[in-house]
Amino acid sequence: MTTELHIRPVRTSDVTTVVQIQEAIIQRPVAPGWIKLIELQLAKHDGVSLVAEQRGEVIGFFFGEIKHGDFGLEHAGWIEMFGVNPKVMGQGVGRSLADAAMAKFRERGVRDIYTAVRWDSGDLLAFFKNIGFSLSNYINLKTRLE
Ligand SMILES: CC(C)(COP(=O)(O)OP(=O)(O)OC[C@H]1O[C@@H](n2cnc3c(N)ncnc32)[C@H](O)[C@@H]1OP(=O)(O)O)[C@@H](O)C(=O)NCCC(=O)NCCS
Repeated sequence: MTTELHIRPVRTSDVTTVVQIQEAIIQRPVAPGWIKLIELQLAKHDGVSLVAEQRGEVIGFFFGEIKHGDFGLEHAGWIEMFGVNPKVMGQGVGRSLADAAMAKFRERGVRDIYTAVRWDSGDLLAFFKNIGFSLSNYINLKTRLE
């Protein structure tokens, strides 16, 4: 990436662009609940919410948080939502956002970072492997209520 990338905390005024990026990724409008989720994320005391900006344009976002006591873990960082504008994917924006987020987690004394990815999402698994993630010692379980 040649032009300098600026990683900074998310502001409320970024929400519209974050939604536009997510809609470009999923190629349909986001559910109203997704916008609410972003707003809640911004209000979290233990949130790690960052955007990547280039030439004044927001081109990627990262929302994570520190959870305390969940899954028997004392405290751990969780990646919740993470996206890069499809126009600039594959140019290092995701890695830069992840590096900055990892530094924030580290500053707050967090060493273990978790996320969940669909098992058949090969691209995403490759990305996370590339930035240093490997299989955790948890598996996700589900049931469906009728
Ligand atoms: C996943 C995502 C955030 C990665 O961002 P990005 O800017 O495209 O990734 P980067 O260019 O920083 O890539 C970092 C590394 O991962 C690798 N990588 C990225 N995308 C990859 C893919 N689709 N397949 C294989 N490897 C990939 C790159 O080769 C790079 O490795 P390198 O530095 O050794 O060359 C972005 O592609 C995205 O927004 N995807 C859709 C949304 C999503 O799935 N979000 C995550 C779940 S919340």
